[in-house]
Amino acid sequence: MLNIVVCVSGGGTNLQAIIDGVQNGTIQNTNIAGVISNNAGAYALERARNAGIQAYCVSPKDFASRQDFNDAFLKKLEELNPDLIVLAGFLVILPERMIQVYRDRIINIHPSLIPSFCGTGYYGLKVHEAALERGVKLTGATVHYVDEGTDTGRIIAQKAVEVKEGDTPEILQRRVMEQAEWIILPEAINEIAAAYQK
Ligand code: GRF
Repeated sequence: MLNIVVCVSGGGTNLQAIIDGVQNGTIQNTNIAGVISNNAGAYALERARNAGIQAYCVSPKDFASRQDFNDAFLKKLEELNPDLIVLAGFLVILPERMIQVYRDRIINIHPSLIPSFCGTGYYGLKVHEAALERGVKLTGATVHYVDEGTDTGRIIAQKAVEVKEGDTPEILQRRVMEQAEWIILPEAINEIAAAYQK
């Protein structure tokens, strides 16, 4: 059974896709051991609680220093003993030590076809604003392993989505979520879980 911890900061629609996938069987051999957010008000925490999943807030605001936050965040992760950590809209700079301890066991969903529109400053709506600004006809989403860089780890899966005439960043974001993110992230977790023996 693959134990996963999902890290979130916002609405949690990707978390919901994972929860639904475990419940309806599209994600096999997987247990969501817990959900951690840096944002006490994240609706993603509500989604976790509604599904009976342990939900925690570890916020930098609650600690005197970044190091204290990093230590607390790593301690919470350790308690949950994840085989895989899933970043689903997690807007926190990861502690170096976390990348080392969980090397090749952290994945992230990014709302573009990496290497386009990624890296520092490209998150949330900003990604879709840039895609519309550039005038691309196709965009999409990418699931990738997390390394020391920003959106630079090995790509696991991608799915293309059409950009339509008159799209606003909000409309495009929703289409990318519905037609790409909520499909390839559960699929990636299922594939990793299928290969996992413990
Ligand atoms: C998604 O667009 C995801 O691609 C990006 O952050 C957003 C999170 O949305 N990483 P949600 O919290 O999963 O609804």
